[in-house]
Amino acid sequence: MQVDRHTPEPAIIERAAALLRNGRVVVFPTETVYGLGGDAMQTRALERIFAAKERPYSDPLIVHIADEEALELLTTSISEQTRRLVQAFWPGPLTIILPASSRVPMLITAGFSTVAIRMPRHAVALALIRALGSPIAAPSANRFMHVSPTTAQHALADLHGRVPLILDSGPCEVGVESTVLDLTSVVPTILRPGGVSLEALQHVLPEVTYRKPRANKEAQEHEAQVAPGQLLTHYAPSVPTFLFEGPIEAINRAMLVEVQRRKAQGERVGVLIADEDVTMFEYSGASIYALGGEHALEQVASSLYAGLRTLEEVEVQVILCRSFPEQGLGLAIRDRLRKAAGGKVIYAGLD
Ligand code: TXA
Ligand code: MG
Repeated sequence: MQVDRHTPEPAIIERAAALLRNGRVVVFPTETVYGLGGDAMQTRALERIFAAKERPYSDPLIVHIADEEALELLTTSISEQTRRLVQAFWPGPLTIILPASSRVPMLITAGFSTVAIRMPRHAVALALIRALGSPIAAPSANRFMHVSPTTAQHALADLHGRVPLILDSGPCEVGVESTVLDLTSVVPTILRPGGVSLEALQHVLPEVTYRKPRANKEAQEHEAQVAPGQLLTHYAPSVPTFLFEGPIEAINRAMLVEVQRRKAQGERVGVLIADEDVTMFEYSGASIYALGGEHALEQVASSLYAGLRTLEEVEVQVILCRSFPEQGLGLAIRDRLRKAAGGKVIYAGLD
C-alpha cells in the first residue's frame, strides 16, 4: 500500500497500527532500509517477526521509538553520553546499545542484558510508532541472510505471503542500515558501521572506537559469537560475490581479466562498479550495475543493495565488485561489500 513519505495518510497509518495492536507484523519504511515491525511489548508479535524472516532467536532486535521518553521504559540508565548522542543524531540512523530494563521482552534482547534502541528519521515510521502508542521492534524486512530491502518491492520479493501489509514510500534515503553503537562497553564501540559515520560520532564523543574486522573468516566467525549479528555472511546475496581491493587502476584491470576468463568459460558475470568505470566494462560482456560516482558515497550507499539484487535478478552466476574510499559512509559500504562477499576478497596489486 502506497503511503506518502512526508505526510503519511492517517487512514493508512491507522490500518497498519490496528494490525500491530492485534499482534500482527507490518513492513514499513525507514530512512535506512525497510523494517519488519511488530509491537515490541507483545511476545506473539515478536515470534511472528522471527518466523516470517526465518531468523534464529539468538539474533536480538532493534526497538524503534518516536520520543525520548520511551527510553525510560526500555533502559535502566540514561548517561550523559547517551543524551549527547540522542541530541546530535536522533531521529536518524544511529542505534544505541544500553542496559535493558526488566520490561524489555526476552525475544528482543536474545537473553542479553542489553537492548538496541533507535529513533528513525522517517515520517511514516514515526507516525506508526505514535499511532500504536508502543515501541516497534523491527529487523530489516528481508529473509535471514539475504540483502536488506531498500524498496517495498525488495521486501515483497522476500516476504511475499508472510506479512499482511507492506507500506510503500519508495526507495530508502540512506540505503545501508543504522550504525550500531555499544554504550555498555568500557569504551563506546561501533558493532556495525552504518548511516552515521565514525567521524561524525567522534565529533560528539571523541572516545568512540571501531575495530575493523579481521580478514580471516574463522577469526571473524568466532567473534560473531561475542557480537551478535556480526556474522561475516550476514548480508550475502544468493550469487557468489567477490570483492576487489587495492589501487583502483589495479582493481579495474584485475576485474576485467576475471570477467574475460569467466566469459570464456561460458559464465554470466555481473560487475558492481562506479560511474567512472562504466566505459572500461562497456564491451566486456558483463552485466553492469553502476552504483554512482566513486566519491559520491551517499549515492553509492543508497544504491548498493538494489545493485546486488538487480544482478541477482538478471541471473548472473557470479558478481565482481570494486571497493570504495573508506571515509564517512565508505566504512559501512566496505563492511556490507565484505559481508556480501562472505570473505572472498581479492587484493589487486599494481604489478
Ligand atoms: O537501520 C536499521 O538498523 C534497520 C532498520 C529497519 O531500523 N534495522 C536493522 O535490524 O538492520 P537488524 O535486525 O537487521 O539488525 C540489527 C543489528 C543486528 O546485527 C543485531 O545483532 C544487532 O543489531 N543488535 C540488536 N540488539 C543488540 C544487542 N542488544 N547487542 C548487540 N547487538 C545487537
Ligand atoms: Mg538485517
